[in-house]
This record gives sequence, C-alpha cells and structure tokens, in this order.
Amino acid sequence: MADEKTTNTKSKGKIGLGVLAAVVVLGGVYVGVSMSGRAITASASDGRFVQVIENNGCLACHSSEPETAWYEALPGVSGMMEKDKDNAYKFIDLQTIVDKVNAGEMIDAPSVSKIEQATKNNSMPLTNYATVHPGSSLNAEEQGILLGWVKERRTAQVQAFAEQYGMELDDAALEKAVSEPVMVLPEPGYGVDMDMAMLGLDVYHDTRLSGDNTLACASCHQLSHGGEDGTAHARGITGSLGGVSAPTVYNSVFNVLQFWDGRADHLQAQAAGPPTNPIEMGSETWDDIVKRLKEDPEMVQRFDKVFGSSGITEENITAAIAEFEKLLITPNSPFDKYLMGDEGAISAEAAQGYDLFKKYYCATCHTGASMGGQSFELLGTVTDAAQYFEERGYEAFEADDGRFAQTEDENDRYRFKVPNLRNVELTDPYFHDGSQLSLQQAVRTMFKYQTDHPNPTDDEVNKIVEFLMAQTGENEYMTYDFYPSNNLYPEYKTEASDTEN
Ligand code: HEC
Ligand code: HEC
Ligand code: HEC
Repeated sequence: MADEKTTNTKSKGKIGLGVLAAVVVLGGVYVGVSMSGRAITASASDGRFVQVIENNGCLACHSSEPETAWYEALPGVSGMMEKDKDNAYKFIDLQTIVDKVNAGEMIDAPSVSKIEQATKNNSMPLTNYATVHPGSSLNAEEQGILLGWVKERRTAQVQAFAEQYGMELDDAALEKAVSEPVMVLPEPGYGVDMDMAMLGLDVYHDTRLSGDNTLACASCHQLSHGGEDGTAHARGITGSLGGVSAPTVYNSVFNVLQFWDGRADHLQAQAAGPPTNPIEMGSETWDDIVKRLKEDPEMVQRFDKVFGSSGITEENITAAIAEFEKLLITPNSPFDKYLMGDEGAISAEAAQGYDLFKKYYCATCHTGASMGGQSFELLGTVTDAAQYFEERGYEAFEADDGRFAQTEDENDRYRFKVPNLRNVELTDPYFHDGSQLSLQQAVRTMFKYQTDHPNPTDDEVNKIVEFLMAQTGENEYMTYDFYPSNNLYPEYKTEASDTEN
C-alpha cells in the first residue's frame, strides 16, 4: 500500500512564476474571473467571515471537491492549480468550516489557529492565485474581519473550556487565553466523583483485566513514566507487539477522540477496548473479567458502594477508569507559569522557542490547553508522507493508515491525531510509530514534513526543544510508582533504555 502520490514539496515561488507566465499569455482574459460582489453586508461576524471566505476565492482551493474553473484547462494553468488544490486541502478544509459556521456549530481550535496565522502572516490566498484574481487578496478590512472572527471563536472556545473544567478566568487571563494559541491547563479534580475515581485508580492497576493476569492498563501506561511505556510498540499479552506506540494517558481527557485514528469517542469507550483485544490484554470476554472481579468480595463491596445495585459490570468498570483518567491533568508547568505572567519561569531560550513555535505554524496543530489532541492532521503536509516512510526504513502498513482506517476517505490516509505536547520530555520515543528517538529528532522531522522551513538551524531546534522541556507539569500520580505485581515491566524498562540513544 505504498503511497502513489508524487512528492509535493512546497515551492510557492515556482508555482507562482508558472501562473504569472500564463497571465502574460492570456492577457486580459482574467478580468472575467476577478472577484466581484465584495460588499460586506451582514453584520454578524460569522456572516462576514463566510462572505470574506467566499468572495476571496478561498474555496477555489480549500475544499475536498473544489470547483474547476474554465481557465484551469488552459495550458500552463492545469496541473499547477491541481497541485495547489491538493496541497490546500491537506492544510485546511474551509468548505466544511463555512458549512459549520452557517449551521452555528463550534469550530475546532486548530482551524481557528490556522486561519489566525495565515491572516496575520498575510500568506493567503497564494500569491499566484491573487495575481490572476484581482481583488482576491485580503485587504485590511477583510483581515480585520477574519481576525475579529478568530477572536470571537476563540473566546467562545476558551469560555466553554473554562466552564467545563472549573477555571476562573479574570479579564486579564481571558484576554491572554484568547490572544495566544496555547492556554494554561486547569487543575485536575473539578466535577470528578472521587470515590469512583479512586476505584478507577485500582482497576487501572488490576491485572485481572487481562486474560492471563499479567497486564494492567498501567503496564503500558505507567503513571510514573509519563503515562506510557517508553517503547516504540507496546507489548501485549504473550509478548505480542502492537503496530503503534502507546500515547500518554496524561491530559488524554482533552482529546476530541481517542487513539491515533480516533476510533473511540471518549475515555470510557476507549477503556472498553484493550481488555478484550487479543494482542493487548487478551481477555476472552468482558463477562470473564466481570466474573474474575466478582470473586473478590472487596471489589464487590467497592463497586456496590459507588454504583449501587448495578455493581460490577463492563459499563461500571470502564466508567471508573475514565473517571480516574480525568484526574490526570498536569498543570503548573514552567510554561503555564510563564503564560500566567511569570516571565522568569522559563529561560530566555525557551521563550524564544515559543515564538519560533508560533512563527513556524507548529502552534496551529499543537494548539489549545493540551497543545494537541484536537484534530487529525496529515503527517506530511509539506513533504510527502511517502518520503517519511522511505526514510523510516520500512514501508507503510496498516498501522500507518491513521484516520483512514476509520473513515476510509483517501484524504485521511496518514492523518493522525495530533499528539499533545504536554510532558513531552517524558514520553519518548515519539510519533505513532515510535520512530523518533529524541525530541531533537522529532522536532527536525516536524520541520521537514509539516512546515515550509524544512532545514531549521541547530539554534532553532534547540530553542524549541528547550520550550518543549518547559511543558512538564505537576500531577500527584507522576510519582505513583506502582507496578502491577506480576507484569513484565522490568523488561520494558530495559527495552526503553535500549532505544534511548
Ligand atoms: C490557489 C489555491 C489557494 C487559494 C485560492 C487559497 N489558498 Fe490557502 N492554502 C493553499 C495552499 C497550497 C496552502 C498550503 C500552505 C502553503 O502553500 O502556503 C494553503 C494554506 C492555508 C491555510 C493553512 C495555513 C497553515 O499552514 O496552517 C489557511 C488557514 C489558508 N490557506 C486559508 C486561506 C484563505 C482564508 C484563503 C482565501 C483568502 C485561501 N487560503 C486561499 C492554497 C490556496
Ligand atoms: C499492551 C499495552 C496496552 C495496554 C495493556 C493498554 N493500552 Fe492503552 N494504548 C496502548 C496503545 C498501543 C495505544 C494506541 C493504540 C492506537 O491508537 O491504535 C493505546 C491508547 C490508549 C489511549 C488513547 C490515548 C490517546 O491519546 O489517543 C488511552 C486513553 C488508553 N490507551 C488507556 C488505556 C486504559 C484505560 C487501559 C486499560 C483498560 C489501557 N490503555 C491498556 C497500549 C496499551
Ligand atoms: C499540520 C499539523 C502539524 C504541524 C504544523 C506540526 N505538527 Fe507536530 N505533529 C503533528 C502530528 C500529526 C504528529 C504525529 C505524527 C505521527 O505520529 O506520525 C506530530 C508530532 C509531533 C511531536 C511528537 C510528539 C509525540 O508525542 O509523539 C512533536 C515533538 C511535534 N510534533 C512538534 C512539532 C513542532 C516543533 C512543530 C513545528 C516545527 C510541529 N510539531 C508542527 C502535527 C503537526
């Protein structure tokens, strides 16, 4: 299943020159496709946003099925336009956003951050397109409309988030949260049923969830090991290796969907998977698990206390685990303190690293309080994924399909849930395939495949790494050194340290 697409290395300048040449050939013909109807009439900021997007030709490229204009068939134009459209859709699907705005739905944080960044940098529409579509570039008023919309949308996001997690934001904190792509993490515990969560903590470490009593959730998601296992491919029952690296459970409560491919809607649904997955915990059925736990009078009593008469069931076991996972938020990192106004909380290099993180669009995907987990993004927006797999040393296989595995939409192949970057210094190796052994390597690979600055200097990489090291937060379970009694953890540890250099 090797990728058949050709390499799409970003080369704005070249594409632009090509189309310019076409303009010369065609003379004034392009007047016919110039932008018209630019008057902005609706007063609501949503309406004006949609008008700007529609009037400025943004949808000519940013849609899964962009319309084809007659002139695209002309020599020199076809092909280039195709490529632009193909590339544009990899970054953002503005048609879907317009539809959602029209339907009054929430817009995901990464899309808002992307629109903010592209508007601030005045990078859209592409120069070549603007040249042949007079009036399609954003004027100051239109930029103001887009940025005003961004502000309104982010305010709504931040307020909903603050309410959900019990954060009290004064005016200054709200202003800060709205003006930055990353916001502080809340304290854990708000709205959590502590009895249920403490039961969940124990179930999370209970090897009776596995078929042969060797593995617990904590075997692969060690709380004192960044919430994962330090290996590239988690080792399940009987030592079978899975195809992907275990993501951290810390801050996973913020993910829009769970798993690299988003196949579980929320934490409770996620927790139902591993226990009966033959290569993970390998229990035959949930009934077997329930039966094993019911043999333990103390467990029966504890479930009765929390859940009343329903007692031990799959539903209640997974609910308890999910409740516990809500406690795994890691606030008060040096960077959070910096965001809250303590300028000395991080080094000057780390602060510069944050600026670079924004400058090179990293913060458009790694956005929000957990710096990720909000969207599925293509691995290889700028440099093609095929090259990534080639460099990795083994061909793409099923586990590399990403979101495609769930949607079967070819546009979703190699799209992965953006990992959250909180505590990232603790969660090596990196990426869905665990192929990136150090933060330096992961950052360089990101530059190459996701940005138009493929060859960062050592200084840039080091500053960003410094910034990422300032993401390590606090949580009482980060020192919870409890290994399920008879699991294979020591073996994992050896493996982890083997891959570390
Ligand atoms: C001719 C095709 C084309 C048109 C028209 C166009 N874009 Fe783009 N857009 C692209 C391409 C290609 C990219 C990928 C990045 C790049 O090449 O700079 C992109 C990237 C983006 C991004 C993502 C930036 C990032 O790196 O995350 C946003 C947001 C965006 N465009 C918004 C717009 C808006 C708003 C308009 C209308 C004002 C627009 N685009 C018009 C082709 C287009
Ligand atoms: C054998 C190792 C293993 C065990 C045991 C295990 N997991 Fe996982 N976990 C993984 C792997 C690997 C993934 C990623 C799988 C994927 O995305 O396809 C994952 C994904 C997750 C995620 C999704 C996080 C995200 O960012 O998408 C959560 C949450 C999670 N596991 C919690 C649990 C819980 C709770 C249990 C116990 C019921 C458990 N895991 C048992 C290896 C394991
Ligand atoms: C277009 C969206 C996008 C942009 C832009 C982006 N990333 Fe990523 N990032 C991802 C995705 C998707 C992954 C997961 C890739 C995988 O698992 O194969 C990732 C993974 C990472 C990881 C590894 C985290 C882990 O736990 O595995 C780091 C570190 C990282 N990115 C940093 C950066 C930096 C620094 C930049 C800017 C230079 C950046 N990213 C730009 C989408 C993006």
